[in-house]
Amino acid sequence: MIKIAPSILSADFSCLGSEIEKIDKNGADIIHIDVMDGHFVPNITIGPGVVKCLRKYTDKPFDVHLMVSNPDEYIEQFAQAGADIITVHAEATKHLNRTIQIIKNCGKKAGVALNPATPLNVLDFVLQDVDMVLIMTVNPGFGGQSYLPHSTKKISDLKNMMIRNTLVADIEVDGGIDVNNINVVTKAGANVIVAGSAVFKQDNVGEAIRSLKMNSYN
Ligand code: DX5
Ligand code: ZN
Repeated sequence: MIKIAPSILSADFSCLGSEIEKIDKNGADIIHIDVMDGHFVPNITIGPGVVKCLRKYTDKPFDVHLMVSNPDEYIEQFAQAGADIITVHAEATKHLNRTIQIIKNCGKKAGVALNPATPLNVLDFVLQDVDMVLIMTVNPGFGGQSYLPHSTKKISDLKNMMIRNTLVADIEVDGGIDVNNINVVTKAGANVIVAGSAVFKQDNVGEAIRSLKMNSYN
């Protein structure tokens, strides 16, 4: 079952509440929230205070993608603000196992994100502990970039790694996904699809989400 997670990074920041209501009513399965600190990535977005305010606009899961250095320091704040899934970058923490445990101790689902240049083997000894792996299909920091073609093999290698180890974590992809390539990533094994521009930069977000689902491989 393919889930669409619109990224509010591409929404109108002056009215995030109504933007979330709009995708809630129009088929979004998950709300993807990009948190950037201007240090781990060259952009700054939103913090836990904003996430807390947005919580009242939907009951759909909040998927908080932390693109921040030292994520351990912020996990609890995002958990209290209403995150359901908290994803940290493997490159941003010195002790990935500990960081995952901090998320779990907050009672939240734990995700690990990998930049395009980061190999899958960093997951060898944590894969059994995570609920989701996020394969970045662009370099993190900005919406509207193009899908990096080498990502396809990485997604299918991860899928095979999970099958070999009889694990069932979600595989999320993020960056440059649209109606033309969603078939490729879903065929490779991704089941949670982040889409920023392909949802919010379209005239009709409902139609945009529907056509992403229709073009997915099932
Ligand atoms: C990039 C963010 C993405 C971004 C995706 O660093 O993590 O979630 O919003 O936007 P699109 O779908 O436009 O590439
Ligand atoms: Zn993201």
